[in-house]
Amino acid sequence: MRRLVAETRLHPAELILPAFVSEGIAEPRPITSMPGVLQHTRDSLRKAAVEAAEAGVGGIMLFGLPEVKDAVGSEGTNPDGILQQAIRDVVAEVGDRLVVMSDLCLDEFTDHGHCGVLAEDGSVDNDATLARYAEMAVVQAEAGVHVVGPSGMMDGQIAVIRRALDEAGHQDVSVLAYTAKYASALYGPFREAVNSSLKGDRKTYQQDPANAREALRELELDLAEGADLVMVKPAMLYLDVLRQVADASPVPVAAYQISGEYSMVEAAAANGWIERERTILETLTSIRRAGAEQILTYWAVEAARMLKQQ
Ligand code: PBG
Repeated sequence: MRRLVAETRLHPAELILPAFVSEGIAEPRPITSMPGVLQHTRDSLRKAAVEAAEAGVGGIMLFGLPEVKDAVGSEGTNPDGILQQAIRDVVAEVGDRLVVMSDLCLDEFTDHGHCGVLAEDGSVDNDATLARYAEMAVVQAEAGVHVVGPSGMMDGQIAVIRRALDEAGHQDVSVLAYTAKYASALYGPFREAVNSSLKGDRKTYQQDPANAREALRELELDLAEGADLVMVKPAMLYLDVLRQVADASPVPVAAYQISGEYSMVEAAAANGWIERERTILETLTSIRRAGAEQILTYWAVEAARMLKQQ
């Protein structure tokens, strides 16, 4: 009866697996603060992508970790940079079975770890960053990506990226806008995952956890600028925001269950304090119930397998 009348259902096709690929490592490297998640080699990433496709997962979001970082994040726009290589690899391997997405942001590539380039006074220069994002979008599209995911929260980023893609003949590449991205304390494990060099915080460009109405303003702007999908991030602490965005959005709404959300559950489960699998499905169900139609989660493959057995 519960199965018959359930108001919310999870399906593997709605899950998106975030995956890290690192240059210059011979073996996949475990991320200490995210038990079960790896920094992949190009080779192990290919295998992980096949595994995800076989589990029925809908998409994969790629993050590249370069060996060399600099002030402007040059490797992010190098056609042979690690992220572009990974896009080519994954598209060739499973491009007809998975939607292949890429993080479009500079923080993995800059030596200061900010999502943009800096002005002389050390602040993030919004408009100079937009020019870098436009270049990145085209380079990722040339590598064959299906969807770009601008996660840097620069004002005007969607418009600039859409225009750059169109002008370069990539009308078919979609934009998944990180619409309401909060300056959360829960990104800590991700910083380890991407070898981040960030000191300080991202409060000049990410949203204040106190503000929900602001998310609707961000939604309006992203839609006007051409977003194909919009996202709320983190997920679990922002279910109210997710609900409001879902109610207002004419385009699909995704949520990102971020690293800290994953690690908190893994840590409590490892201590035997909560039931791991039930908790995983409950978190995903609550995110779905709050209005997310796609969920980025590090449990994508495992959850997809659990759902198939139900
Ligand atoms: C920025 C980016 C971040 C995450 C995804 N894209 C880090 C940040 O904003 O500090 C975090 C994802 C996670 O914590 O799982 N490129």
